[in-house]
Amino acid sequence: MTVKISHTLEVQALFKEAAGFNNDQGSPRLKQIMLRLITDAAKVIEDLEVTEDEFWIAVDLMNRVGKHTEFGLLLPGLSLEHFIDLLQDAKDAQAGLTGGTPRTIEGPLYVANAPLSKGEARMDDGSEDDVATPLFIEGVVRDPAGRPIAGAVVDLWHANTKGTYSFFDQSQSAFNLRRRIETDTEGRYRARSIIPSGYGLDPDGPAQECLSAIGRHGQRPAHIHVFVCASGYRHLTSQINLAGDAYLWDDFAYATRPGLVGEALINDSGEASRARGLDGRPFAELTFDFQLQVAQSAEDEQRSHRPRMGQ
Ligand SMILES: [Fe+2]
Repeated sequence: MTVKISHTLEVQALFKEAAGFNNDQGSPRLKQIMLRLITDAAKVIEDLEVTEDEFWIAVDLMNRVGKHTEFGLLLPGLSLEHFIDLLQDAKDAQAGLTGGTPRTIEGPLYVANAPLSKGEARMDDGSEDDVATPLFIEGVVRDPAGRPIAGAVVDLWHANTKGTYSFFDQSQSAFNLRRRIETDTEGRYRARSIIPSGYGLDPDGPAQECLSAIGRHGQRPAHIHVFVCASGYRHLTSQINLAGDAYLWDDFAYATRPGLVGEALINDSGEASRARGLDGRPFAELTFDFQLQVAQSAEDEQRSHRPRMGQ
């Protein structure tokens, strides 16, 4: 029979001491969270009869995940970043806040302060001209009534054709495939970029090791990340996931959501290509509009205070 002791007064007193409840230093909020984490971890160990070997293997894995800066990938892979979105959706529904472009996960690869331009921008540095398909993205940012919002900032970032991101892939130029575009008087933004590749976890890294151990892959469909913000409106963190990708609805990070699929339509007209300033080669066009909710507070206009590169 399973032996259980975590409910005893002696062990509960131990956990309270370990969580800092017997001193008046530190953060009361963190003490509360820590006590819950310790207690729940103990229950897992006790209820599932976790062995010492399993415990220390898990500790070793966590050390390696941290060393490789992969917690920002593993936790989305274990659905927790998506869960935070689902929880916020449920809170919004309870408060009657519905509508607009759905939120989805940010992921760990944003870099703040990308070049800012008005109306339009070229996002790629041309280094993949020989292999990439040019992509023209455009759309309108609207308010809940469908009216265009001028002066909104659309902050886009995505991977290159190899599935890697500038800054994290030091072989790319600074801010390659990262731009902030302020919408024009008609609420419109336009970007010239390239079709990104989907990508996966490092196959030799500890996050993939963990997912493989539960029979899961670590692949994402091709996608474009976006923040949209405007004065008086709720900050939006979202993504455009590209239709046709094999992983569109089999995304290891659960970021693809209904309403967040965009179609990059190939145009192989030489005339249209030259009109776009290209040399006649095929290109793709993607139209994606965003709709923001009205901010209920000044805090609503801000993105989360997650630590990020470049800020
Ligand atoms: Fe991404």
